[in-house]
Amino acid sequence: MENTPSNSYTPPPDKAITHRALILAAIADGTTSIFNPSICEDTLATAACLKKLGVKINFLKKSLQVEGLGLKGLKEPAGPLSAGESGTTMRLMAGLLAGQDFNSVLTGRGSLLKRPMARLTEPLSAMGARISSQNGLAPLKISGAPLTGARLKLSVPSAQVKSAALLAGLYADGRTSVTERFKTRDHTERLLKHFGAKITISGLTTILKPGPLSAGHITIPGDISSAAPFIAAALLSDRTLLIKNVGLNPSRLGFLKTLKKMGVRLKIKIKKTRPEPVGVIQVFPARLKGVKIAPDEIPSMIDELALLALLAASAEGKTIIQGVTELRHKESDRIKTTLLLLERLGIKASFKTDSLIITGPQQIRGGKPIETFNDHRIAMAAAVGNLIAGKPVITKGASCVRKSYPAFFADFKKNFH
Ligand code: S3P
Repeated sequence: MENTPSNSYTPPPDKAITHRALILAAIADGTTSIFNPSICEDTLATAACLKKLGVKINFLKKSLQVEGLGLKGLKEPAGPLSAGESGTTMRLMAGLLAGQDFNSVLTGRGSLLKRPMARLTEPLSAMGARISSQNGLAPLKISGAPLTGARLKLSVPSAQVKSAALLAGLYADGRTSVTERFKTRDHTERLLKHFGAKITISGLTTILKPGPLSAGHITIPGDISSAAPFIAAALLSDRTLLIKNVGLNPSRLGFLKTLKKMGVRLKIKIKKTRPEPVGVIQVFPARLKGVKIAPDEIPSMIDELALLALLAASAEGKTIIQGVTELRHKESDRIKTTLLLLERLGIKASFKTDSLIITGPQQIRGGKPIETFNDHRIAMAAAVGNLIAGKPVITKGASCVRKSYPAFFADFKKNFH
């Protein structure tokens, strides 16, 4: 690392990895310690569902201890399980529950009740699962049924759906193969391997043989998606930033790769730790230039696109972000809410066919009240926009950051005020 003085920042633990660690630990043989877990609304929803299935989870000072019940040890829950507003909880739990020999109901609240579930019930049904939805929406009624391994081709690039199929595959008779259109985050595959599952990955296809898991302690790295607003804020305010202990899984690096294409100088040091690589990123101020992003790059930066749009406004030239339609199905219709956020900040942008188009440089003026639409990623992007606009703007519904990053505003203030 260079000797330039930097603000230093450590992001909170990774939410996506924590969900998976909790679920796999619950069905492994033996007790797993999850060090540095993400504690936020979404991961607490996963923990609450597992507790209702009879899993003991002890919350210690800096770790969670999960007493695994083995593949067949979960108990029929006394009532419906709530995923809260967590899409990852809903979809991964559905995969897990599909292979049990009891019935369950998975429900949720708010935006989660409007998010598409057919993408999930279709592949699981192809494995023999009996799941009924409300016209493609939650609540889901799952009747425990024997599953058969299948060769699945997923039409929607979604790590949540892929993970659900793999979890169901642990209970299937025969092997399950899942082929995706584009590579999505592979935390489930890495953790399955870590917990002793028989899994092989070749290109876009993952093959899993059913079988038991054994406890595997894990330390959760920092969340690159939570670090992203800090990177954007540093770049837009011409500061250096040193990010420590951040997860650097190759399937999550789209934002960093795009920044490099936009002319940003990043120094990245990766420690090839297992199951997840971790490291340090140093960000240096740069003159940004417009960039074109192809649809197959989107999954690797799916949660960073609102921030990217903001950066594109400050970049010289045209930025085209292609293949963003999946954003319609996040906590909000994030195409609509990103465009609205940009408009409120005084930025002109458009959406054509499946692309977001922003031509810069434009001044981030701000001054108009911003609504988050209860979407944590919009709230964080709004905080970055407000910082640059330098005008006191009310962000309506900012507390939704507790979904993934409860300390976001406190950390942001520490670093940027
Ligand atoms: C996630 C996958 C992504 C992402 C979400 C977390 C996961 O969703 O947007 O925040 O934990 O697997 P999709 O798989 O629906 O794209």
